[in-house]
Amino acid sequence: MREVTATVLENKRIADEVYTLTFATEDEIAVRPGQFCMVGVGGFPLRRPIAVCKAEGERITVCYRLKGGGTRALAREYKAGEKLSVLLPLGNGFYVQEQEKKIAVVGGGVGIFPLISAIRAYSKTKQVYAYMGFRNHAALCMEYEMRRGEKLVIATDDGSVGFHGTAVQAFMRDFEEVKPDVVLACGPMPMLRALKAAMAGKNVPTYVSLEERMGCGIGACLVCVCEKTDGAHARVCKDGPVFEISDVGL
Ligand SMILES: Cc1cc2nc3c(=O)[nH]c(=O)nc-3n(C[C@H](O)[C@H](O)[C@H](O)COP(=O)(O)OP(=O)(O)OC[C@H]3O[C@@H](n4cnc5c(N)ncnc54)[C@H](O)[C@@H]3O)c2cc1C
Ligand code: FES
Repeated sequence: MREVTATVLENKRIADEVYTLTFATEDEIAVRPGQFCMVGVGGFPLRRPIAVCKAEGERITVCYRLKGGGTRALAREYKAGEKLSVLLPLGNGFYVQEQEKKIAVVGGGVGIFPLISAIRAYSKTKQVYAYMGFRNHAALCMEYEMRRGEKLVIATDDGSVGFHGTAVQAFMRDFEEVKPDVVLACGPMPMLRALKAAMAGKNVPTYVSLEERMGCGIGACLVCVCEKTDGAHARVCKDGPVFEISDVGL
């Protein structure tokens, strides 16, 4: 993990309340799919956790949805050329075994962003089937990045584009046809709960990236602690954010 003073290269709106931010670090930083960064926003004492979508040499791209004061200030005040204090890379990221050739990625809401890094990394050597859920057509973004794999199904809550329903419903519709070796998922809690129920008894390793509230992002403050199914506790920022779905209470 490093603390860098990055330079904003681009920070622009790409969908309804969604922005993409690309910044340059001083030198190349290796980032695994599913890892995240903590972005410092002027006036806010705590950095904001945001997944890394793309890491290309010194250029790092993240995408974020406007939520509260921090993300709104990030969109408003950080134009090209501004300096940005960032901690990265953080968290464990996704792990896919050598023998796992068919990967299903299932994402919803801001949970699609860490999965973009997984699609980018794994579609070079494996078959990636992506099921990505959005509220509606206006929220759809990064489609060209999600199309890198074998198949992409866009799902929308209102049916305004693609499959009418959730990403989990779309995935389960195709499950027998795809027969994935491993599933990678990220999204809101109800989505992860639905996925956990749907995958019960299927005997397919399923990894979820959790989006807990965070303070430090580096394992020191314990704000992000979650309870595991064996009764132990884990820090989402340091021990996660990626966990086997059966190991965490959702
Ligand atoms: C590992 C991880 C990766 C994430 N990746 C993305 C991403 O790629 N794109 C994206 O849009 N969002 C992502 N989030 C959620 C994002 O961190 C929050 O939306 C953001 O921190 C909200 O800040 P705010 O100041 O706008 O909102 P406020 O609600 O005003 O934030 C107040 C405080 O709560 C924390 N907080 C609020 N909501 C969340 C949340 N859902 N998760 C964690 N902390 C929260 C903030 O960090 C801040 O400390 C991720 C969260 C985690 C934990
Ligand atoms: S956010 Fe501080 S320990 Fe995880």
